[in-house]
Amino acid sequence: MQHAITGRGRLLPMTGPPSGDLGTIDGPWIILVTDGVVVEVRPGGLRPGDPESVTDVGAALCTPGLVDPHTHLVFGGDRSDEAAARARGERYTGGGILRTVAATEATPDDVLRDGLRGRLGRAMATGTTTIEVKSGYGLTAAAEIRLLRLIGEAAAPLPLRVARTYLGAHAVPPGMTPASQAQAVIDALPQVASLADHIDVFCEPDLFDVSLARSILLAGRAHGLGLRIHADQLRRSGALSLGVELGARSVDHLEQATADDARLLADSGTVATVLPGPALLLRGGLPPVRALFDAGATVALGSDANAGTFGEPSMPLAIGLGVMIGCSVEEAWWAATRGAAASLGLADTVGCLGPGMAADIVAWDVEHEGAAAMRPGAIRPVRAWFAGRPRSD
Ligand code: NIG
Ligand code: FE
Repeated sequence: MQHAITGRGRLLPMTGPPSGDLGTIDGPWIILVTDGVVVEVRPGGLRPGDPESVTDVGAALCTPGLVDPHTHLVFGGDRSDEAAARARGERYTGGGILRTVAATEATPDDVLRDGLRGRLGRAMATGTTTIEVKSGYGLTAAAEIRLLRLIGEAAAPLPLRVARTYLGAHAVPPGMTPASQAQAVIDALPQVASLADHIDVFCEPDLFDVSLARSILLAGRAHGLGLRIHADQLRRSGALSLGVELGARSVDHLEQATADDARLLADSGTVATVLPGPALLLRGGLPPVRALFDAGATVALGSDANAGTFGEPSMPLAIGLGVMIGCSVEEAWWAATRGAAASLGLADTVGCLGPGMAADIVAWDVEHEGAAAMRPGAIRPVRAWFAGRPRSD
């Protein structure tokens, strides 16, 4: 069935580059949608022959649905005490992940599923239409399979597109060494691969170093998974270069990356996924977003909502914080839509509004994209379409 969405305000289809005008149309404009897919985007009003079914968003700013390419949303327990300790000066080492692993193990399936659904609901309510969710708070094969299944079950009734990532290499459980845990992660792949789209590794010199990360990622690729790496977050380990060498879809965090790394990424097909929320909270350095954009790298923004370093799955907040760490407003919106879609290998489907793309569309309670910087995390969808189907908030 054909449907038209019309507006008289600003439409940011994200068809242009991040440093340009994003293809912006100052209204009036019209988007024609058939069977959940955009067939035409054009300036001007309705014409004879346009569909009778029309939704008008008035003067609202309209964009593609936001894409969150990095979250860890399935967990039990509460580590807010760690945020307070870090604000007093304690360093983040990733050690607290094992607290969440124990709390998650002790939490029944229905409670974990409800918690995850609540977080996915908050993501949708803040304009996200596609999201990546990692396992990683299970670590053993059985516990990781449990979490990947729960992600699938929580997502099934929702209109949200959910990509799953296997992160068995997130921490080293008691009684294991980095090498034995890496081997266990690899050995689980025949059971795990059909439950995930991507594989990820928390690559740090004293955790899973570059050599172990390489083995894990190559094994994941052999099982058909896309590659992602938590790279150069706490220490500059060579993880970013490994990601480029292996043709990873994305290297994430990058707080310790340099301008040379930015040029390396720009010459590659690997996306730089920047997570301003935890970067600001951890106070361990900021990713070189200006160097990344200036070098021409493909940059994505993500929330990194997780159990230990940053909790809120809000992409409007990631956009606002992205501007605070050096993105232009246009770059931040592009990175939260088109860049994030590229990070997930979904650039042909979501993240921009052109013919053939999914009709994942958000109309916001503001008239200009600059409001995302002026009111970080506070802008809200007034209407949202998931593959052309409306969901009003
Ligand atoms: O992306 N850096 C590693 N993993 C998460 C944090 C996990 C945790 O501390 O629970 C992150 O920030
Ligand atoms: Fe993470």
